[in-house]
Amino acid sequence: MEDKYRPIGVFDSGLGGLTVVKDLLACLPNEDIVFFGDTARVPYGGKSRETITAYVREDIDFLLTHHVKAVMIACNTADSMARETVTPDYTVPLVGVVRPAAKQAALVTENRRVGVIGTKATVESRAYETSMAEIAPDVQVFPVACPLLVPLVEEGRFHRGDAVVDRVLSDYLAPLREKKVDTLILGCTHYPLLYDSIAAIMPETHLICSGSASTEALINTLRERDLLNDGQTHGSIQYYVSDAPARFAENGGKFIGREIHGSVSLVSLKKPAKA
Ligand code: DGL
Repeated sequence: MEDKYRPIGVFDSGLGGLTVVKDLLACLPNEDIVFFGDTARVPYGGKSRETITAYVREDIDFLLTHHVKAVMIACNTADSMARETVTPDYTVPLVGVVRPAAKQAALVTENRRVGVIGTKATVESRAYETSMAEIAPDVQVFPVACPLLVPLVEEGRFHRGDAVVDRVLSDYLAPLREKKVDTLILGCTHYPLLYDSIAAIMPETHLICSGSASTEALINTLRERDLLNDGQTHGSIQYYVSDAPARFAENGGKFIGREIHGSVSLVSLKKPAKA
């Protein structure tokens, strides 16, 4: 099979990465996608760099068993903590979400003050500051870790007007309002579901979803390597998770914006014990 007809691999620490798949499907409807959600080990956001890097290698190695032509690291935490370290070990392109979001933010900010919300690990990594320093050194980045947001979204608490969500978001966003950022990067797979609630609290602020920003980067990467699928048929998606496939199928719909049809397969990334 020609390389361009091989699938795109996408992985995330759990099901949040489906928000990124949603954007991919809208822009690249004829590509086949293999999605892996590491539901046995989610969340990555409070773990160490060493642990996250080891997980990321296993996630990529799993996708490579499906002969993917490129890997989209949908998870901000994984991209922030591990992409640079693991990139030299792979020949397939690894496309992350951090740099494209920083690039988009640099394009839209007028007052050169950009906020970022993400997991603790993403904020600790300083990946957004590093990317921005390379892209637009005059832009100041103000990161805020928001560890309560992922569990809230996972529990289905993301609807606009939810009093708990509004209270938590108001607390997290207060320092960014004080800093007068005019652009805010939603630097986590789960945050697009909170878009309306965030927009209600920061109505004057440009909101950037890291997933949608990165779709363009993936398209450019594939085009440069002549890897865009030029077929006319609709692509397929295969879902793999490391735990609880039924729960993934049931809850994933709200992240991807449509029912998850077909089966979700359970895989184990554990290496067999040596004899
Ligand atoms: N997928 C992660 C991210 O985008 C959020 C969930 C986690 O902590 O693993 O940062």
